[in-house]
Amino acid sequence: MLRNEVISAIDSIIREGKHRGIIHLNASEIGGSRLMVRGRTSINFGSCSYLGLEFDERLIRGSQQAVRSFGTQFSASRAYISCGLYEELEEIFRTIFNGHLMIAPTTTLGHIATVPVIVSERVAVIVDHQEHASVQGAVDLIKTKGTHVELVRHNRLDMLEERISALQGSYEKKLVNDCECEGEVVSDCSEEEHQRNRRTEFTILKM
Ligand SMILES: Cc1ncc(COP(=O)(O)O)c(C=O)c1O
Repeated sequence: MLRNEVISAIDSIIREGKHRGIIHLNASEIGGSRLMVRGRTSINFGSCSYLGLEFDERLIRGSQQAVRSFGTQFSASRAYISCGLYEELEEIFRTIFNGHLMIAPTTTLGHIATVPVIVSERVAVIVDHQEHASVQGAVDLIKTKGTHVELVRHNRLDMLEERISALQGSYEKKLVNDCECEGEVVSDCSEEEHQRNRRTEFTILKM
């Protein structure tokens, strides 16, 4: 499918959804899981708030206090100076996740800030074609800098396995244990070891 055809297919889906009154809506009021849309109260089943804490009284009070101390935004590059609350939150998350942390205002900005730093041109990147746009955008950035990037069809683990086998000789690979299972190669390993090699680990060489 050509890019213009993709855009026009998306455009007609969006137009149809808008015509039926199910997308491109505006809520005039929000109260917990209820939305007021065109004078009618509805239950919102489309929330992306995985923790559902936006009406928690403690968070509302904390947000109000932060706005009083820092204004409605703290407009400075983090390379220069950060709002001190970031440091506090990163410290708390560091304790929870026991890893290196960097807070970003949105997931998209987090991906754009980190992917080009942690992915080098010595590795190949394979992305599910239904991966969220925030990751695809970040991956586009590394593609322009010379990292090999490929898309595979959604959930096609067979295609993924096939592409990993085809690319593995040309790009950097480091197994985290003795499980060398890959395509036809089957090694004597536990399921736990097998799964560990299918996750990515980052080694921070210098801070
Ligand atoms: C899986 C996933 N990733 C990323 C995002 C983008 O999040 P943000 O708006 O914080 O950039 C969303 C939100 O729609 C999402 O559902």
